[in-house]
Amino acid sequence: MEIEHGCYITDYTGNTYIDTTMGSGAQLIGHGNPLSLKIAKQIEKGTIYTIPNSYTHEVNSYLKKYINPDLHDQYIFCSSGTEANMRAIRLARACNGKSLIGRFHGGWHGGLDGFLKEHPDNKGVPEQVDNLFKVLPYNDDNCFEQINSDMSAVIIEPVQGSNPRSDIKEFLHKLREHCTKKNVLLIFDEVMTGFRLSAKGGAGVFNVRPDIVTYGKVLGGGFPIGAVGARPEIMETENVFYGGTFSANPLSMYAAKLILETIIEKKYINYENLDFAGKTFRDGLNKFFINQDKKMRAIGCGAINRIVFTDKPIMNRKDRDFYESASSQLAFSKRLKYLKVFVNNNGLYHLSMSHTPEIIESLINRIKGDSENARPIF
Ligand SMILES: Cc1ncc(COP(=O)(O)O)c(C=O)c1O
Repeated sequence: MEIEHGCYITDYTGNTYIDTTMGSGAQLIGHGNPLSLKIAKQIEKGTIYTIPNSYTHEVNSYLKKYINPDLHDQYIFCSSGTEANMRAIRLARACNGKSLIGRFHGGWHGGLDGFLKEHPDNKGVPEQVDNLFKVLPYNDDNCFEQINSDMSAVIIEPVQGSNPRSDIKEFLHKLREHCTKKNVLLIFDEVMTGFRLSAKGGAGVFNVRPDIVTYGKVLGGGFPIGAVGARPEIMETENVFYGGTFSANPLSMYAAKLILETIIEKKYINYENLDFAGKTFRDGLNKFFINQDKKMRAIGCGAINRIVFTDKPIMNRKDRDFYESASSQLAFSKRLKYLKVFVNNNGLYHLSMSHTPEIIESLINRIKGDSENARPIF
């Protein structure tokens, strides 16, 4: 891709697409937005010193004051969501001295060893590492009997990309309660949902307080970032290693400061509009799928959406895998490229501030066109 602007991307042959990937969810405002131009000015001052910078202090202050007042006022900063989750589970293990980590089927926490067991490309991960993780059934009360006091922490995306849904509040509350009862730390992986579903992420939407939280994507304002926050007594655990050459580099931290300022003080990111865009997208497509008797449904939560290739209600990724043919997501995304819609291989439709009502309508119309062509698959 060569030129990027708003929610459009243009390839080297001059074809322009509506982008629904938006930097895998990182670009909440839009490509080439004024904020990124402002961030570019930091390049003149410096991009990497590997010594603390004042932006880190400002980012910590925003997070403490407006986002997570109950968490420690110092966050651990790094350069990706994967790294943030790696550090979060290390912190949990260091804090309570236990090794076993629970994670949910259908979840994605990055490419760390131990997160890949169900992934098709999972070679190179020793069995001993996999044994330190327990894969739990998602959105299914049967998970609770497997979460016991021998577990250090449970990591969960408040909304899973593989089956984004807004009816998950009750499950998250039960999980919170169960973890407290069993003395297991609850880690919210808000790398995708943080600052995207609401200023306070999924924790804010569903009103659940995790013990440890991780961020990435949107927080970096288009630059690489990861962050870990935790309750004070957890964060104060001593002798835990977090360093890294690019951790808290001035470019990413300046970008994070600006995006937080944009969200919190300028209130430029309108989460009601983003929710409405998601709902319009899902309702428009579902009306069409139902009228045309298609075995397809649009599901999602706020600006995080997906098309599933079944008309059956699905409770989790396991149901999705049961009903959907394995290749349908990828085949559909490929064909959408001919209709000038760009969807990443992960099949997620991330909407942004730059997806105006007109663009959403155009997006729906383009997808409708493709469903006709897609008929032979089903
Ligand atoms: C929920 C979640 N956690 C972690 C990650 C990994 O983040 P990164 O790709 O920045 O390492 C992702 C990336 O897609 C994600 O969606």
